[in-house]
Amino acid sequence: MSDAQTTPADSGTPASTELEYHRVARSGQVPEGYVRRFYVGELECAVARLGGKAYATSNYCTHLDCLLSSGKLVDDGLGCSCHGSVFDLETGEPVYPPATEPIQVYPVREEDGQVYVGVSEADVVAGGPRRRKPRGD
Ligand code: FES
Repeated sequence: MSDAQTTPADSGTPASTELEYHRVARSGQVPEGYVRRFYVGELECAVARLGGKAYATSNYCTHLDCLLSSGKLVDDGLGCSCHGSVFDLETGEPVYPPATEPIQVYPVREEDGQVYVGVSEADVVAGGPRRRKPRGD
């Protein structure tokens, strides 16, 4: 494992979809029942712990882009603080509206008290810096 940072691909070059794990936090920084914001390069992610397991997702709600790291964990997953959408932490699927589209989820490994999030170059390009997708795309 490394702390290596991924950088966006040059324009015109398709970004790699190969996963690389990046250390984002110490395990103690993500206590049970909490969600916090961390970064992999420019990729902003929400890292949460529920039932002892750490999860990582995009930090942007698919309803109106509120920060999910400002939300809270509920029995069914990660709740957005703005309008109450809840997302499944395993799949990213919305389990309560108004959101209808899933959030991106990233694989997590915990080793030696460190949290690692698996992202690809394409994830980093798509996930940061914060930008809103135009409607209708
Ligand atoms: S922005 Fe998250 S529910 Fe509206």
